[in-house]
Amino acid sequence: MSSGSSAKGSIEGTTKVVAVLGDPVDHSLSPRMHNAAFKELGLDYVYVAFNPSKRTIGEAVRAVKHLNLAGLNVTVPYKQDVIRHVDRLTPAAKAIGAVNTIYADGRKLIGNNTDAPGFTAALTAAGCRPRNKRVLVIGAGGAARAVIHALVEARASDIVIANRTLRKAVRTAKDFGGARAHIHAADLEILDDFDFLDSRQLVVNTTSVGLKGGAFLDYDIKSTPEDCVHFDLAYGEKPTAFLDLAAKAKRPTIDGRHMLVHQGALAFKLFTGRRAPIEVMSKAIGL
Ligand code: ATR
Repeated sequence: MSSGSSAKGSIEGTTKVVAVLGDPVDHSLSPRMHNAAFKELGLDYVYVAFNPSKRTIGEAVRAVKHLNLAGLNVTVPYKQDVIRHVDRLTPAAKAIGAVNTIYADGRKLIGNNTDAPGFTAALTAAGCRPRNKRVLVIGAGGAARAVIHALVEARASDIVIANRTLRKAVRTAKDFGGARAHIHAADLEILDDFDFLDSRQLVVNTTSVGLKGGAFLDYDIKSTPEDCVHFDLAYGEKPTAFLDLAAKAKRPTIDGRHMLVHQGALAFKLFTGRRAPIEVMSKAIGL
């Protein structure tokens, strides 16, 4: 059949390519998720994974122009590295200091960040509106910056950043605080403070602690209210140590695959101009 397309399982000369760049990248669920969406909508696109090195990451980004790729997603550890290889950053990518989606706008390469709105969308889809919420964010790395940006945009009223290295939490609080949000920094001892934990409505783990087995941090979860939502940005084959703790304490939980789907859906729209079939994407990654 001459009109065969990637969506029907055959790659043709017309097929547009989207890729995720990461290291490691073999475990990425993005190809499965996006290819399921292309198939659902009958789009002549294919999504693959590439594993450039720190040395070749710039050339990989420029391939969007040179090989006419439809776009890229960027994952660990390159979300900061790619910044200097794009022509323009969206305001969100600039504020967060990280790019997870790259596409061409005419001759210009745009670096965007769909992690932040993806986080908000996942939270809202689970019935938790961040507006006026009192939040604890554990960790102060790149992932935490996307979450804090999203929380400030969504008008969370009070955000505490708890981190092992206090000065990083202080720096992050300073970067995002101001007239729009009350943001405070703390060390990890706050994870044992009854009065503080009793005041939280949402706890977000942005660290990778316990992801590869082993326990989570010393966290007195029983001091949080029973309806305090626990969101882990990480996900794995099994529930993470943080979500395991939350499930055992019967607190509502959201796992990182929900954020993966929603950041992916926003990127899909940028790559294809079409609204993403979120249910199909969710199903493809086991949600
Ligand atoms: P990402 O971009 O995924 O956020 P990152 O920038 O390396 O990754 O940040 C990892 C976060 O997890 C940091 O907040 C880190 O704390 P430090 O700033 O003190 O390094 C936190 N983290 C990682 N391992 C940890 C551990 N064993 N105990 C406590 N915090 C940890």
